[in-house]
Parts: sequence; C-alpha cells; structure tokens
Amino acid sequence: PSTLTIRAASYSDELVKTAKTVASRILAMDESNATCGKRLDSIGLENTEANRQAYRTLLVTAPELGKCISGAILFEETLYQSTVDGEKIVDVLVKQGIVPGIKVDKGLVPLPGSNNESWCQGLDGLASRAAAYYQQGARFAQWYPILAWGWAETLMDLRCFYIDFGLGFCNMQDNGLVPIVEPEILLDGENGIDRTLEVAQKVWAEVFFYLAENNVLFEGILLKPSMVTPGAESKEKASPEKVADYNTVSLLKRRIPPAVPGIMFLSGGQSEVEATLNLNAMNQAPNPWHVSFSYARALQNTCLETWGGRPESVKAAQDALILRAKANSLAQLGKYTG
Ligand code: 13P
Repeated sequence: PSTLTIRAASYSDELVKTAKTVASRILAMDESNATCGKRLDSIGLENTEANRQAYRTLLVTAPELGKCISGAILFEETLYQSTVDGEKIVDVLVKQGIVPGIKVDKGLVPLPGSNNESWCQGLDGLASRAAAYYQQGARFAQWYPILAWGWAETLMDLRCFYIDFGLGFCNMQDNGLVPIVEPEILLDGENGIDRTLEVAQKVWAEVFFYLAENNVLFEGILLKPSMVTPGAESKEKASPEKVADYNTVSLLKRRIPPAVPGIMFLSGGQSEVEATLNLNAMNQAPNPWHVSFSYARALQNTCLETWGGRPESVKAAQDALILRAKANSLAQLGKYTG
C-alpha cells in the first residue's frame, strides 16, 4: 500500500513490522519511580533503586516469559538499568524474545482552564529522546494522558491537546518508535457503563481525527484503551459478554480504523481474573484488529504480593506472573477456560 501521504517514510516498514510483533501480548512494567514506590510500599519495602532493580529483575528473568509476552514497556530508569547480576535488562528481554518499549511522557500537570483535567509533559525534546531510546534498544513507546470524568464536558475546548498528541506521535514514528496511543479514561466513579461508552466514543473520535490530521501511520501505532465498564464505584455490574459487546461492537468497530494492528487494553484496576475474562469474551468473535492486553496490575498484583521482597519467594512470584501471562495469552485468542 502507498505510504506517500504519511510521515515516517524512513522507518515505515520497520514500524509496521514492530507494531505487528508487539501487538501480540504486552507486559506493562513502566511504573514511574513514584508509582513503583507505591507498589513497593504496599509490601513494606523502601523505594530505593536497589529494590526497584530487584523487582524488575524478578519480572524480566521469569523463565519462559517470552513464550507468553511479546513486548515490555519500561520506565526510562529500567531502559538503562541492569539486573542484580549485572546484565542489561534490555538484553535480558531481547534474549527472551521480548521487544523493549519505553514510557516517553514526563508525567502529568493540571491543564489550565479545564474541568480538573491534566495533560502530559514531554513534547519538548521528544524527537531527540526518541532517537536516543531507539539507540538504547527501545522499539515502541507509550504516551500516557489520563482523562478524568470532567472530560466529556470540556472536550471541545481541548483541541490543542490532541494536536500535541498527534505531533508527539509523529516525533516517535520519525525516530523509529511505534507509539502506543493511550488516553486512559479513569474507571473511578459511580457512572454506569453507558456513560463510559459515551465518553469513550467522544475521546476516540477526537484522537483519531488528530492522528489523521498529523499524518500518523496507522499501521505503525498501537491503541491502548481502558475497557468500557461501569465506574468502579457503580452499583451496576456488567457480565464479560456485555463488556465485550460494548467494547468491540459499540466502541471499537465504530471508531477504530482496521489499519491499526492491535488494541492492547490496560487493566485499569480490574481484578486479575476480571481482566482476563473480559478480554476472553472480546475474542469470541472475529475482530478487524488483534484484541489483546498491555496489563500492569492485572499481571503483577499477585506476583508482587507473593514476592514481598523475600529472595526465597522470587520463584513463586515469577510463577504467579507466568500464570497470569499464560491465562491472558489464552484470553487474547478467546481460549481461556478458567
Ligand atoms: P494497568 O494495567 O495497571 O491499568 O496499567 C496499565 C498501564 O497503562 C501502565 O502502562
């Protein structure tokens, strides 16, 4: 197909290939040092570089992780970090057959004049950072705005945000990185599933409009949405079948062009099993894109708890990670049976 009208001509073949490879199954382990600190705190560990290194070593050295994970998103510290045994984490991943990715945004700040919204820092200098990350072995990148519930009311005032979104992605693609498009719509709230769908439909219409305006190569991006579900504090419950219907039929098929190779859902605070069941339900019928996972908490929660910072529990913790990775590997094929 013609690539005449799109940017990223120098990397376009590689971007398409990377996106297809990574579109299989992603382990998100890109917790910033602050977020990693919260996770370590939950098991009574101090947020030191040594503890972060020990935990990340445990994750990437899990035996046969590469059989159920195709890409791993890293925080910048980890891209340049070694395991406790002195091997580069990037090299360990590549040996496992896992493509390294990188979180490229510089965190959130309040968006002036908005209804309690925030936006990402990090567009300045992104092109040169992307080139350096590529040199270091990264092949895909995540940009991570979070949308709170005021969003739908103020959406029309926030177009500059989406222009930046598109431009940021051009910078990544021009430097060989496959961008993961991830405006997370927070699941906190008492709203029902219909309201989540309404907000998500608006958000995705705007996101893809601006990606197209900026000539982003759709075959060389991945989409990472939060699932359309009732809010976490809602009394409404939705079965996996209903969640699947709202996501694939009512949202994705109406908003996402089939040129996008993969929809890699985040877990967003769902329980580990819930995230697996919902993903499995979405794969009971054929989809135009590959529908899979890029989970952090739904892969790591039990693993972290099992480890608890104890060297003698590393193996059991790795087993817990592999258990979830295998379950979700089956779910992305619609073959999870519990
Ligand atoms: P969760 O799966 O924990 O929501 O995190 C996903 C994520 O976006 C981290 O990069």
